[in-house]
Amino acid sequence: MGRTFIICKPDAVERGLVGEILGRFEQKGLRLMAVELRHIDKETAGSHYEEHRGKPFFDDLIAFITRSPAVLAVLEGPDDTWAVVRAMMGATNPMQAAPGTIRGDLATITTENLVHGSDSAETAASEIALWFPGLAA
Ligand code: RTP
Ligand code: MG
Repeated sequence: MGRTFIICKPDAVERGLVGEILGRFEQKGLRLMAVELRHIDKETAGSHYEEHRGKPFFDDLIAFITRSPAVLAVLEGPDDTWAVVRAMMGATNPMQAAPGTIRGDLATITTENLVHGSDSAETAASEIALWFPGLAA
């Protein structure tokens, strides 16, 4: 089995698309292991997006992800579930994301791209430990 971490970002909550997004993952056959509405604080957002600190879009990214509540979740499925979730999310820039993906179908703006998903098995483990320490292996 494999677990991964996702965020339905503030734009998803504001636009009423959380059910649509979580529904796609459930319909795929992935199981919700944890789900929580949380207003992300700047410090934890910085830890989560540490790899991007110093990049031109970092400040906008932190302002966006902390501007209103987000829905955090852990999904479980077969090995490499993180990769299935990434494929279903689509490319980072929604204008380049394929139709049929969440970003390709539902978004147009790179910052406001609705959903985060862990980008490797190692990242999934560290993000689950950061956001849901009670679930960490
Ligand atoms: P995420 O981490 O949120 O799942 O997104 P990702 O892997 O597809 O993209 P990543 O490169 O990790 O970038 C993280 C988030 O930063 C914003 N971004 N803006 N303006 C830009 O050039 C730019 N590049 C990235 C996006 O919100 C992206 O999801
Ligand atoms: Mg990323």
